[in-house]
Amino acid sequence: MKKIISVLAVALLATTMIFAGGSKEDSGKAKIGVAMPTKDLQRWNQDGANMKAELEKAGYAVDLQYANNDIAMQVSQVENMLTAGCDALVIASIDGSALKSVLDVAKEDGVPVIAYDRLIMNSSAISYYATFDNYKVGTIQGEYLVDALNLKDRDSSDPVYMELFTGSPDDNNINFFFGGAMDVLNPYFDSGVIVVRSGQTSKAQCATLNWSTEEAQKRMENLISSNGYGPEGTKLDAVYSSNDSVAIGITNALLAAGYTAENFPLVTGQDCDVTSVKHMIDGTQAMSVFKDTRTLASKVVEMVDALMKGSEPPINDRETYDNGTGVIPSYLCEPVFGTVDNYKELLIDTGYYSEDQLK
Ligand code: BGC
Repeated sequence: MKKIISVLAVALLATTMIFAGGSKEDSGKAKIGVAMPTKDLQRWNQDGANMKAELEKAGYAVDLQYANNDIAMQVSQVENMLTAGCDALVIASIDGSALKSVLDVAKEDGVPVIAYDRLIMNSSAISYYATFDNYKVGTIQGEYLVDALNLKDRDSSDPVYMELFTGSPDDNNINFFFGGAMDVLNPYFDSGVIVVRSGQTSKAQCATLNWSTEEAQKRMENLISSNGYGPEGTKLDAVYSSNDSVAIGITNALLAAGYTAENFPLVTGQDCDVTSVKHMIDGTQAMSVFKDTRTLASKVVEMVDALMKGSEPPINDRETYDNGTGVIPSYLCEPVFGTVDNYKELLIDTGYYSEDQLK
């Protein structure tokens, strides 16, 4: 009987540990909750995987969750991380304004929170923010269009025709991507050197909920049919897109309208997502901005480590990112311009992708 009871007790203990998400190996290690928005876009898989590997290498236990772009799911994942006793949270939010209540709990529990890539708004629980220089992403895209379309040498008698797309309205980053690009392009709108036939130029009109490829494709299809764009139709020189998931939808619609690599409008992007790199190689996307998620993950691991050890985390910006409760000390990584001409150096030589992945 005694034996049966002790066997049951061991089994119960093991089950409790499994449900608490713990394992023998993890016990004693500080635990870090990492909440990512979705597996749909390649970059977040890479971000999550890099972060988990680096945190584990630094001696932490990791609870990594993806939320399928579902805001309620992300809130409950973060709640569970707190209930399971995570010592710090790293969150790439879906809706930057939807986490305030759950993060109030983190603050009460003394659990530090790092906003990853996207700033979490209106919460005083955010200790640090790690991202890329998002304004620079926008200016790189805008400057590319200025050069490639030769805008400096044109006047309004010889304009270029362009349409504009940005990302999700609940993502604070679009203010910087779209804002940076428009700061570069605005003088050309004003002088009539760029014409947007649809007249849709405000951030709200150009937004794409959830950065959805399908939504972007639908909007581009509508723009094509309402303005008569096409290789034989109304002239379209370029489509500004803030990122690759949106660019892919635009490219799909342009291909369906009959454009080929020979006459393809210049489409911009960001992330060097595999599909977009293939499009750059095929001539159906003009450029992308490479943001090496390995660098971002390493910086965040340094931040976590500093927080856990009570030392100074790496910070290189104390003025740009105000989340509504004050400026959040940030680390901004460098974005890099990418095209078909340098993708090999950027992506293959550095081991970010294998050559096979891009076939
Ligand atoms: C990220 C981009 C990404 C987009 C869609 C943004 O917050 O900074 O890299 O393309 O979200 O996932």
